[in-house]
Amino acid sequence: MTEKIDVMITKEEITAKIDEMAALIEKDYEGRDIHFICVLKGGVIFMVDLARKIKSNVFINFMDVSSYGNSTESSGNLKILMDLDEPIAGKDVIIVEDIVDSGRTLSMLKELLLSRNPRSLKICTLLDKPDRRVSHVDIDYTCFKIPDEFVVGYGLDYAQKYRNLDFIGIISFLEE
Ligand code: IMP
Ligand code: MG
Repeated sequence: MTEKIDVMITKEEITAKIDEMAALIEKDYEGRDIHFICVLKGGVIFMVDLARKIKSNVFINFMDVSSYGNSTESSGNLKILMDLDEPIAGKDVIIVEDIVDSGRTLSMLKELLLSRNPRSLKICTLLDKPDRRVSHVDIDYTCFKIPDEFVVGYGLDYAQKYRNLDFIGIISFLEE
């Protein structure tokens, strides 16, 4: 099988949207510290670029949760592979994700983090695939809504590959 990648969102479109999103977040959190929780590994490239565009104090922390293996379908369980190394009680927290697909990961993660009593908890995602939603989740900041296609690049992988692409592409598999 050959993997083929077609551009869906260009590097320029991503950069412009991140500038917009950073300005919006900066305004919403005026005078307050922002605590980003990046969901590894997919959210990392987006979070780094977003954080650099925000002029207020941005603290960063990481969590590794998983509901995907090497396949393109989500399982129903949230596995915590790596937890935060600091409490979030009383903090203004934004979860930074690469993509909301079925919504299972984020609905479970949001519930878990809310039980730790942050001052506020919002979700910021690079991509949203609303057609695939199974678990309801309120998303506060969405950069791009996309159709039901499996995408790679800008942090998103297929079998751990393609995270370093500077655009978002649709992956397809061609029989040889
Ligand atoms: P959800 O729990 O189904 O909403 O999605 C969980 C995770 O699946 C996301 O954070 C991604 O890491 C991964 N995922 C979902 N759709 C895609 C895709 O199109 N490309 C790459 N990863 C995806
Ligand atoms: Mg993810």
